[in-house]
Amino acid sequence: MSKTWSEILIDDHQTTERVFDAVLQAFATPAGPPLRLVLKFRSYVREYVDGCHNKKEEDHLFPLAEARGVPRQGGPLAVMLMEHEQSRQALELVTQLVDRYSAGEAGVLEELREAIEGYASLLKGHFWKETDVLYPMVRRLMEPGDDAQVLAGIEATEAALGPDTRAKYYGLAKEICGMVGLDPLSFALAPDVLAAILDTLPVELSFVDAEDTVRYFSHEHHDKIFPRTRGSIGVKVQQCHPAKSVHLVNRILADFKAGKKRVAEFWIDLGGRRVHIRYFAVRNPQGQYLGCLEVVQDITAIQALTGERRLLD
Ligand SMILES: [Fe+2]
Ligand SMILES: [Fe+2]
Repeated sequence: MSKTWSEILIDDHQTTERVFDAVLQAFATPAGPPLRLVLKFRSYVREYVDGCHNKKEEDHLFPLAEARGVPRQGGPLAVMLMEHEQSRQALELVTQLVDRYSAGEAGVLEELREAIEGYASLLKGHFWKETDVLYPMVRRLMEPGDDAQVLAGIEATEAALGPDTRAKYYGLAKEICGMVGLDPLSFALAPDVLAAILDTLPVELSFVDAEDTVRYFSHEHHDKIFPRTRGSIGVKVQQCHPAKSVHLVNRILADFKAGKKRVAEFWIDLGGRRVHIRYFAVRNPQGQYLGCLEVVQDITAIQALTGERRLLD
């Protein structure tokens, strides 16, 4: 199934954030970033982030949002456009410093790192506002046919830059990440395949990020032990728990963030079923805390197992 306009734009945000992480990680190595990587980064952000992603929003999404009642002046669109402009200025500085670095001025490296950090932090904040606030707002205001119109506009902007523009720059992003070993095995999986894999696990998963915001749950279209709705996505986990258990949630999260604990587990009897509930601290290979994974499993049948079964029925 082809992607919706918001899935495409959110994929752009996520891919770009991975590129930022990769480049800044390369700056943190004793040898510094290879020039090849810095040049690929410059191409990616200039040609794709500024030259394509922002253009898709400015030429197609924002005008539609305005037509559906989101004010351009003094409202969220004005903030988004101002941040695009600020990001262009930050990018201009990055570009000048990359030019000096590639001309052999090694002393410019620290200044370049700071400029990239500033650019990345500006855009990460901007992406978050769009993904979590602006896009859902526009989706709610849309009228029949609007989705298709924005999608067609996005495809036209990409096509104007050449064939397979998005795939080409996602390939470049993958190369950049691969150069610093930031190439998780799941990178090659389409998000819908990854989601289907997670939905096939015999456990229910929920994930809250490092800021305690609910970001994901599995088995949306299945019978669940603990049903969840999409409304919980983007909400602080403390708001999804009864007041009397919030202190427990906070203690688990504090221990995970501080690295004092990696797992917290509970088991309860629920309507004749024995339910095992575990929380795991999720960390990337560098040890950075990414969030907390809740794993809920009906273990009634597992506990009832006796003897062995070594052959298929
Ligand atoms: Fe934007
Ligand atoms: Fe964006």
